[in-house]
Order: sequence, then C-alpha cells, then structure tokens
Amino acid sequence: MSIPWKIKLILSLISPIRYLCFRSNFTINRSLFNFFDRKTPPSPPSSHDVIVDPSRNLWFRIFNPSATDNGGSDDLPLPFLDSSVGILPPVADLTRCFLAGDSAGGNLAHHVAVRGSGFKFQRVKLRGVIALQPFFGGEERTESEIRIGNSAPCLTVEDADWYWKAFLPNGSNRDHPAVNVFGPESAEISSSELSDSIIVVGGLDPIQDWQKRYCEGLRKAGKEVRLLEYPNAFHAFYIFPELPEYSLMMNEIKDFMIHQLKKIT
Ligand SMILES: *[C@@H]1O[C@H](CO)[C@@H](O)[C@H](O)[C@H]1NC(C)=O
Ligand SMILES: *[C@@H]1O[C@H](CO)[C@@H](O)[C@H](O)[C@H]1NC(C)=O
Ligand SMILES: *[C@@H]1O[C@H](CO)[C@@H](O)[C@H](O)[C@H]1NC(C)=O
Repeated sequence: MSIPWKIKLILSLISPIRYLCFRSNFTINRSLFNFFDRKTPPSPPSSHDVIVDPSRNLWFRIFNPSATDNGGSDDLPLPFLDSSVGILPPVADLTRCFLAGDSAGGNLAHHVAVRGSGFKFQRVKLRGVIALQPFFGGEERTESEIRIGNSAPCLTVEDADWYWKAFLPNGSNRDHPAVNVFGPESAEISSSELSDSIIVVGGLDPIQDWQKRYCEGLRKAGKEVRLLEYPNAFHAFYIFPELPEYSLMMNEIKDFMIHQLKKIT
C-alpha cells in the first residue's frame, strides 16, 4: 500500500471524528456531524441552490459551466427536471444527461437510473451512468471483505456494516434490494432500458467484490459496462486530486461521456 503520508495523516484525523458522531445505536449526532461536515455555500452566478421539497429538506445545486470552469450539477430528481422550465441555465441541454455518484451516490445513481427507465421523459435523455465505487453490499461475506476487513483506509467492513444498519428499515438485512442489487430479493432489470455505465473500483476497497458483481449483473442483463480498476485505490480516493488515479479516472470519465454523446440512440 503506497499512500502518501499527507493523505494518511488526513485520513487518520477523519476516522476519530466519525466515531465521535456515529452512535452505537446506529444513529448519528447530526449537530456534531454538521459541525465537521461544513456545507460550502453556493457562489452565484456560477452556482445556486433550488429547493424541491422543503418538508424533506430536498434541494439541489446548479453549477453553470458557462459561468465557471467547473461544469456539472448534482442531485437532480429526474421527473422534476423534465418538467422544470427556467430553473436550469439556458446552456443546459437536457438531451445530454448523465447520472453520476460516488460511494452511496453511486448506489443512488443506479436506483435513479432504474426508476428513470420506467418514466416517459419528454425532454430528458439519459446518456450514461457514472458510478464511482458504488456502495453495494449483501449478507454474504465476499473474498475482498474477508481479505481487507478492517485494515483498509477510509472504509472498513465494520464501517460498512454500521452504515447499512443505520440505513436499513428495521427488520431488513443486507440482502435488501437497495443494498444487494442483484441479490435474492432484487427485481429483474434486463427488461429495463438502462443506459450504459462506467464503474470505478479500487483494489484497497473492501466492498470491491460487490462492485464487480454489480458489473457482472449489469452485463448479464445485457447492459454495456466499462469497468475501471485501480489496484492502489482506497474507498473515496478521489477526494485527493493529487493521487495519480484521480487524473486517470477523470480522463476515462471524459472519454466515456464523449463516446456516449456520439452514440446514436
Ligand atoms: C440513540 O442514542 C441517542 C443518544 O444516546 C439517543 O438520543 C437516541 O434517542 C437513540 N435512538 C434510538 C433510536 O435508540
Ligand atoms: C452531540 O454531541 C455533542 C458533543 O459531544 C453533545 O454536547 C450533544 O449533547 C450531542 N447531541 C445529541 C442530540 O446527542
Ligand atoms: C424493531 O423491530 C422489533 C420487532 O418488531 C422491535 O422489537 C424493536 O423495538 C424495533 N426497533 C426499533 C429501533 O424500532
């Protein structure tokens, strides 16, 4: 494992904070957590926030690529997007949409894509799914979970189990279809019109076997998948742009997007 010492230091500061905020009864001390997890405010005109449902504190942030070098937008609920006029900047082209997410966001991207495939969009056209180390799991202990166990930086098997307990409804286990997407309780997806996807997997991530099974599951269901494997990458490595895998990954994603946009669908 050749992780630069600066990154090791930052990682060693993050985990005690997590253990302070995460309780043994699988709840989170939110006020304490939010103190460490400061939200960056939007910076108009290059970014602004739109509230979808104040009762659920559901909102998203629009990044305007014509006003900044950092293009992209996140957390857009698809049917909302389809019927929204005047919310997005004029430069936004709804026929060139990608769903992207990292970790839990990669899991969400998959589930949004599956739900979106059953929705008749008037304007939105989904061109691909970008899942960076998507957070999947299951009851079974995979080879990578056993081998890497609790020795991995950033995410251990114990952490993953804690997250699932906090997330799952009472009475469910990790074979719940939100977790084990190709597991015993999951619905068949081969008839869904899912977009092509690119999936990033790290060799130091204990949940990598679940991500590889996800690729296999998609391929078996007849979907097109690009799998990128970085042997020296730990879970959430891309929060450190100085790691060489970061630039490699960004170039691959760019290539995937250009390829998908050229495809006649
Ligand atoms: C979990 O523990 C916290 C702190 O002790 C407590 O405030 C909270 O009510 C507990 N929640 C549940 C669901 O047991
Ligand atoms: C959260 O943690 C802080 C700091 O330890 C503590 O003062 C506060 O009472 C906790 N809040 C809850 C709701 O447990
Ligand atoms: C979960 O369900 C069990 C059985 O119905 C119940 O005894 C327990 O109190 C529930 N726990 C929570 C946190 O709701």
